[in-house]
Amino acid sequence: MGDRGGAGGSRRRRAGSRVSVQGGGGPSVAEEEVRDLTSAPDVGAGGDAPVPTPAATPAQTPNKDGHVDVGSGHWELRCHRLQDSLFSSDSGFSNYRGILNWCVVMLILSNTRLFLENLIKYGILVDPIQVVSLFLKDPYSWPAPCLVIASNIFSVAAFQIEKRLAVGAITEQVGLLLHVANLATILCFPAAVALLVESITPVGSVLALASYSIIFLKLFSYRHVNLWCRQCRVKAKAAPAGKVSGAAVQHTVSYPDNLTYRDLYYFIFAPTLCYELNFPRSPRIRKRFLLRRVLEMLFFTQLLVGLIQQWMVPTIQNSMKPFKDMDYSRIIERLLKLAVPNHLIWLIFFYWLFHSCLNVVAELMQFGDREFYRDWWNAESVIYFWQNWNIPVHKWCSRHFYKPLLRRGTNRWVARTGVFLASAFFHEYLVSIPLRMFRLWAFTAMMAQIPLAWIVGRFFQGNYGNAAVWMTLIIGQPVAVLMYVHDYYVLNYEAPTVGGA
Ligand SMILES: CC(C)(COP(=O)(O)OP(=O)(O)OC[C@H]1O[C@@H](n2cnc3c(N)ncnc32)[C@H](O)[C@@H]1OP(=O)(O)O)[C@@H](O)C(=O)NCCC(=O)NCCS
Repeated sequence: MGDRGGAGGSRRRRAGSRVSVQGGGGPSVAEEEVRDLTSAPDVGAGGDAPVPTPAATPAQTPNKDGHVDVGSGHWELRCHRLQDSLFSSDSGFSNYRGILNWCVVMLILSNTRLFLENLIKYGILVDPIQVVSLFLKDPYSWPAPCLVIASNIFSVAAFQIEKRLAVGAITEQVGLLLHVANLATILCFPAAVALLVESITPVGSVLALASYSIIFLKLFSYRHVNLWCRQCRVKAKAAPAGKVSGAAVQHTVSYPDNLTYRDLYYFIFAPTLCYELNFPRSPRIRKRFLLRRVLEMLFFTQLLVGLIQQWMVPTIQNSMKPFKDMDYSRIIERLLKLAVPNHLIWLIFFYWLFHSCLNVVAELMQFGDREFYRDWWNAESVIYFWQNWNIPVHKWCSRHFYKPLLRRGTNRWVARTGVFLASAFFHEYLVSIPLRMFRLWAFTAMMAQIPLAWIVGRFFQGNYGNAAVWMTLIIGQPVAVLMYVHDYYVLNYEAPTVGGA
């Protein structure tokens, strides 16, 4: 459908350029005569307001291309005009839809070849049963799910602290101390379990630590918002004239009525990291929408597992030898080979998590704010990418970390560095502890975003900036993956051999 508009557009542009050419071409007398005949229909062909045309004889009527047959013969006195080639920017031509389709066709063809090559080389490696072993080492020991269930203790602790603060049973300082202790334990306790319990698998450990990180961010927000409410209450008491209208109060919960287990657990399960006393709610659960998202969720889970087993794992395994031999050209070749499945998996993961999963949870809970991502794919700067790809985390960073720092007068770049430092810590926490290996690659990658943002902002604009962001995503991630896998491989599979030799 868009094609029709595009083709029409390009025809119109060609007609338009003809009109301007005729005005400035310095034609000969014979051409002048022809121009007189062609000019009126040409203007009309441009699609503008109709121009009164002189009565043209049938022989002088322009054909569909705007040419005029002079006399009774088919004489084409003019067939050239001053005009730019389509690829020149001066031509004003911008309809590259066909080339985009060509890119897609080439992408499908080259990936089909890769898919076949992979199948011929490795056979079918997809094994859903093997996935279970990623979560469970010992069928009688389930440390990761037990850890997740135990996280309730910390939510309840935060709730009890808030209850006491609301009635003034403890002072703000004591409350702060208790919250800090609770939040610190939320990060330390699962880390200790993941490092000490032998039966926990790296994947189980990642999931447990991710749950605890989410609880940490949520309870931090819970405490922050309740503190703001208490500060508002103190201000309202100091200035009793400022009464809120009754209509607004009727349907909304106000502090401290929000301090209930129902409210706490709604927030704990809601797809957001930022607490609010009155979340926007959707009017009903849309069953068809929910079903579509659930089916997507199931389908993409299978696809992700299949792609990782069939495509990513063998590529990573094949990269170990070049890394061991420090064969740089082979390392780069392996890196570029890994970049394709890694990027595809990351894109599918993005859709699976931010569109399918979060919408399922939101729909079930009638949670109204569905802005889980924005158009990060159009990012022309690194900063725009981080502002738009993961909205729950960005919103939390901005509301509870970045803006409070700015309000205290901190410099914008210092505050940004602080946020990226915290984010780098969590990225490293989620990788190093499950792998039981401290290499700081994830931390460095996150911190590198600050100079990268500066470089991209300084040297690349517009489409070049967008291409630079895509390049960092496509190449940056497999570098980090290979670094970790290589180190993990050396640590767990190479060390005994070296020791024994
Ligand atoms: C650091 C980060 C929060 C900066 O966000 P940003 O949107 O670029 O920040 P800006 O400088 O543009 O300022 C944004 C806000 O600060 C507000 N602001 C600016 N100066 C202010 C001041 N002195 N006081 C209070 N607010 C101020 C602006 O009004 C704006 O508010 P709005 O968002 O409500 O419109 C963002 O880059 C980020 O989230 N980074 C980390 C992301 C991350 O690690 N994600 C992990 C995903 S896995």
